Amino acid sequence: MYRYHNLEEKPEMTKRMDLGGSFTLPGTAMTLNRMGYGAMQLAGPGVWGPPRDVDVAIAVLRDALAAGINHIDTSDFYGPHVTNQIIKQALHPYPDDLVIVTKVGARRGADKSWLHALSRQELIDAVHDNLRNLGLEKLDIVNLRVGGVMGPSEGSIEEPLTVLAELKRQGLIRHVGLSNVTPEQLAEGQRITEIVCVQNLYNVAHRNDDGFIDDLARLGIGYVPFFPLGGFTPLQSSKLEAAATSLQATPMQVALAWLLRRSSNILLIPGTSSLEHLRENLKAATLQLPPEIIANLDSIG
Ligand SMILES: NC(=O)c1ccc[n+]([C@@H]2O[C@H](COP(=O)([O-])OP(=O)(O)OC[C@H]3O[C@@H](n4cnc5c(N)ncnc54)[C@H](OP(=O)(O)O)[C@@H]3O)[C@@H](O)[C@H]2O)c1
Repeated sequence: MYRYHNLEEKPEMTKRMDLGGSFTLPGTAMTLNRMGYGAMQLAGPGVWGPPRDVDVAIAVLRDALAAGINHIDTSDFYGPHVTNQIIKQALHPYPDDLVIVTKVGARRGADKSWLHALSRQELIDAVHDNLRNLGLEKLDIVNLRVGGVMGPSEGSIEEPLTVLAELKRQGLIRHVGLSNVTPEQLAEGQRITEIVCVQNLYNVAHRNDDGFIDDLARLGIGYVPFFPLGGFTPLQSSKLEAAATSLQATPMQVALAWLLRRSSNILLIPGTSSLEHLRENLKAATLQLPPEIIANLDSIG
């Protein structure tokens, strides 16, 4: 059992709250609340090894679910293995409506680097690692991560995606998504298997995918921006600060509220290792942005 000995916050769980409405992924029975949680920050510094305080990590996950979050984004290469093991420790057996989305296609070097791992055997091993460390017999959604962290690069994804399609037919994966991809790669992917979501780098200041998001919305495919708060380089903008001040909110809340309003197919997975930040981020789902503030924020990117 986790304890709260290191937490300043009171032990009460966050009550269920409005999480920005929901979105049903195409061809699935998965209706996700639009405010989800990204688990990458639960590993140690540099997404490596165990966190400073596992009890806090467990408390963050349980609080997220208590608030109504039913979408957790993870990967077995966070830690590596550590993040998935903490998710299992905190939440297994999982509630029926919880959707855990994981990703394959990368591995960590001994120097903590992020390397591609897209060979057939690496992908099969990664799916089995995720199943074991999450304690599942079938993975809800597996994203094939193709490009680099800072952006996709063109090239066929047929070989690795065919492996995931096979694992789906074998019953190890329910649904498939893509990460760090271009529109052309999505189109190629759709000829191989149904794609339910795309996860790329996007936030109020990094808007390369503006057109892609609109196309995905028309197709009914979920768009899950990673680094919604800027990731390793937190968002900083005087316009964000000014909006936050006028709304009596924080810049991070404004950044999340802007994303929720940007398109109804956007599902959020802000990452945090802190209970305080989790609670702050959840409140962004009910933050209303007046038109003049939206126009000002639109001009950041
Ligand atoms: N597909 C991919 O290639 C890829 C790449 C990167 C990430 N991801 C996924 O995307 C998720 C989100 O990305 P991310 O966690 O890297 O970046 P992020 O959500 O943009 O930002 C996380 C950073 O913001 C801080 N933070 C969170 N809430 C805050 C708040 N209210 N006030 C101030 N600081 C706050 C966190 O620190 P604290 O811990 O101190 O709160 C952490 O340093 C990840 O968890 C992961 O699942 C996918």
